Amino acid sequence: MNDKEIVAQAALEYVKNNTIIGLGTGSTANYFIEGLAKKIKNENLDIKVVASSTISQISAIQAGLTYISLDQIEAIDLYVDGADEIVLSNSIEVLKGRGYDLIREKLLASASKQCIIIGDNSKIVTKIGDNFPIPIETSPIAWKITQKIIEEFSINCNLRKNNAGDGFAITSYGNLVLDCDFKYGDISSLSKKLSELPGVLEHGIFLNIAHLSLIANEGEVKTYKSI
Ligand code: A5P
Repeated sequence: MNDKEIVAQAALEYVKNNTIIGLGTGSTANYFIEGLAKKIKNENLDIKVVASSTISQISAIQAGLTYISLDQIEAIDLYVDGADEIVLSNSIEVLKGRGYDLIREKLLASASKQCIIIGDNSKIVTKIGDNFPIPIETSPIAWKITQKIIEEFSINCNLRKNNAGDGFAITSYGNLVLDCDFKYGDISSLSKKLSELPGVLEHGIFLNIAHLSLIANEGEVKTYKSI
């Protein structure tokens, strides 16, 4: 097993019967989805799931999980997702969004009684933005004005291309993504500032949301708790 699979297995320990679980997006989250399907079958559990993206929704349904629509729930018991960057400070700071669906990811993470971010050691950084730009979900009518406003305080701010590079990345809700690099300042101020901009539907800085982070390094999983 690789570290992503090992950490996903460790997160299965937090699954309880008769609960609603939020599924994240990405290769690490996919291992969790597969593991959850096996656990439910082996232990005959009654668990319903929602997902943070269309792709995870399809994976969950294909794995045989009982999928419920996001608009049917007010809260979820557990949310397990991967991350692009993790800062292990007193309060765990997370950067998300390489998988586009920021509205859905932050909505589920915020609505969860317990939010667990899982990753391998490569996700640990000292500052958010060290390895990736900050993604911003914006609507097709708002992206140009939003880009112009953000350019006033960023280094770069560009529309994300799709994987083939022949078009733009489109979220599950038909939105676009701006990938922006900022001169590093206070991450909490940047997060607030971005949230206040009218064209920003959601951004990838997740502060005060993760309760726990499980990190796998060479087969060993360590647990970090937000204070
Ligand atoms: C989804 O938008 C992202 O935040 C993912 O959680 C992230 O890209 C992690 O992907 P991997 O698990 O594939 O590394």
